[in-house]
Amino acid sequence: MQLDKGETVIVSAAAGGVGSLAVQLARRAGATVIGLASQHNHECLQTHGVIPVAYGDGVTDRIKAAAPSGIDAFIDTHGGGYVELALALGVAVERIDTIADFAAAAKYGVKTEPGTNARPGAEVLAELAALIADGHLEVPIANVYPLTQVRQAYTELERRHTHGKIVLRP
Ligand SMILES: NC(=O)c1ccc[n+]([C@@H]2O[C@H](COP(=O)([O-])OP(=O)(O)OC[C@H]3O[C@@H](n4cnc5c(N)ncnc54)[C@H](OP(=O)(O)O)[C@@H]3O)[C@@H](O)[C@H]2O)c1
Repeated sequence: MQLDKGETVIVSAAAGGVGSLAVQLARRAGATVIGLASQHNHECLQTHGVIPVAYGDGVTDRIKAAAPSGIDAFIDTHGGGYVELALALGVAVERIDTIADFAAAAKYGVKTEPGTNARPGAEVLAELAALIADGHLEVPIANVYPLTQVRQAYTELERRHTHGKIVLRP
C-alpha cells in the first residue's frame, strides 16, 4: 500500500503480528495512523505514534471521531467485515488492502497485497532487517516456543489476541 505524507490510514488488528509492523511502516511514511485494537494494547500503540481505537460495537462512530477529516486508506490484517467497514467509511476501493478476507476482496475488487504469489524479495527483506537492526522498527515478540511445542504455539495464535509475533525455535 502506497501512503503519502499527511494521509490518514486505518490498520485493523493493529497490535497483531502483521499489524504491529504495518502501523510503524505507515508512520514512517508520514501517515496519520489509526490502529484498531482492544484497550490493553492502546498504550503500546500510542508509544508508536498511533491513534488507538477500540474495535467492536460503535467502532464506526469512534473512527469518525478520531478522523473527522476522513480516511484515505484501510489496511485490513484481521478479516471478518473490515473491508465492508472501509467501504462504508468512504475509502476508495483501490486504497483498501486486506491480507485476510479474500472473499470480500473478490467481491468488491479491493487489493490483497502482497498476495500469495508476490512475496517481498531479498531487497525488501534486507531493508526491513536494517530498520530493525538500527532500532527504527520494533518487532514485538509475544512468545517463544521450542519446535516440539508447535501445537501450543498455534493454539495461542488461533486465539487471535497475540501482541506481535510468535517465534518457533528449532
Ligand atoms: N496474505 C498474506 O500475505 C498474509 C501474511 C501473514 C498473515 N496473513 C493473515 O493475516 C491475518 C493476521 O495475521 P497476524 O499474524 O497478524 O494475526 P494475529 O497476530 O493473530 O492477530 C492478532 C490480533 O488480532 C486482534 N484482533 C482480534 N480480534 C479482532 C477484531 N475483531 N478486530 C480487530 N482486531 C482484532 C488482536 O487485538 P487485541 O489483542 O487488541 O484484541 C490481536 O492483536 C491472519 O488471518 C493471517 O492468516 C496473511
